[in-house]
Amino acid sequence: MVSFSHERTMTTTIIVGGFWGDEGKGKIISYIAYAEHPAIIARGGVGTNAGHTVVFEGKKFGLRMIPSGFTSKKSRLLVGAGVLVDPEIFLKEINETGCKDRIGIDFQTGVIDKEHKEKDQTDKHLKDKIGSTGTGCGPANEDRARRTLRLAQEVPELKPYLTDVSKEINEAIEAGKNVVLEGTQGTMLSLWHGTYPFVTSKDVSAPQICSDVGIGPTKVDEVIIVFKAFMTRVGEGPMPGTLSEEEIEKRGWVEHGTVTGRARRSAPIDFDVARKAIRLNGATQIALTKLDIIFPEIAGANSDDKLTKEALQFIAEIEKETNIPVTFVGTGPEAEALIDLRLEKMK
Ligand code: GTP
Ligand code: IMP
Ligand code: MG
Repeated sequence: MVSFSHERTMTTTIIVGGFWGDEGKGKIISYIAYAEHPAIIARGGVGTNAGHTVVFEGKKFGLRMIPSGFTSKKSRLLVGAGVLVDPEIFLKEINETGCKDRIGIDFQTGVIDKEHKEKDQTDKHLKDKIGSTGTGCGPANEDRARRTLRLAQEVPELKPYLTDVSKEINEAIEAGKNVVLEGTQGTMLSLWHGTYPFVTSKDVSAPQICSDVGIGPTKVDEVIIVFKAFMTRVGEGPMPGTLSEEEIEKRGWVEHGTVTGRARRSAPIDFDVARKAIRLNGATQIALTKLDIIFPEIAGANSDDKLTKEALQFIAEIEKETNIPVTFVGTGPEAEALIDLRLEKMK
């Protein structure tokens, strides 16, 4: 096992996706939030194109705006200036999750309007060639670059939630509190470093998540990269080792998009992709989700003594190929279906 040396379990931690999104960030973040109750959980990333699935207290949430860490009732929830807000979805999710009194959004968060969604759903290049999610994020980011996009501070319904996210987070860090920053999408969808042009409308790696919420790189202690036990991709664009539909079905790797319902393509983990993603994020730990899909015997396990020899070998191979430790293992969709290997590795 690659050792895990950090003395404190949590400080300022960024959680990002290592492949093409949908790695299970929502589930990992919901567990960490629930287990550690960080002072602040802030969301970076693109906008409502993300769909984080959180299964918590017997309920399934498909979150597109609210931080997946809402599962910690003691934490302040924030949405950074670099994220795009769709006010209708933001307010709906506040109601669904009951976080009205502890959520804030930055004054300068950009707003997705009706015309952005219409363009994203009708523009041949975006919809057909790129396979966009149709949620308006690409066209809204175009307007942000043109400096014509409306900001959250111009929307009356958002007034009760407006705040200076960067100031709140920096003050919490200064006071020695724990902060969790959530990324969305996956590194291979980065506008700069991904499989261009089949990517999203901005960078999504850890440095961008810092910028989205307004903290400097010197404030970050840990970057957890989420890898699924196999790779998936939705929308257009290449993924090395993509399997045929029959093979995906045979292996039980079938998945559908949280936002669009489209079928996801699957492939075994490619370690060149994994190492590239680790480099781009400066990742220090791996959270490995869906290990129960490869090894059904471990479904629902939440302690390492339940891992089979094959599952342990799979983890050891990932550590050998990437040279960073696997610290979390997902064994089912529920927030509690997870093995926290940090404690074991610190012994
Ligand atoms: P984006 O922000 O859209 O990239 O999404 P995400 O990374 O939050 O992932 P998403 O929720 O879209 O997809 C992950 C899927 O895997 C969801 O259906 C989760 O419920 C499920 N899932 C996550 N972890 C596990 C796990 O360890 N085991 C099983 N069986 N399912 C999991
Ligand atoms: P857009 O971000 O909606 O413009 O979509 C651009 C590409 O990124 C498409 O291939 C989408 O399927 C993909 N994409 C965007 N957000 C996500 C996500 O959260 N999970 C998975 N794929 C995504
Ligand atoms: Mg998703």
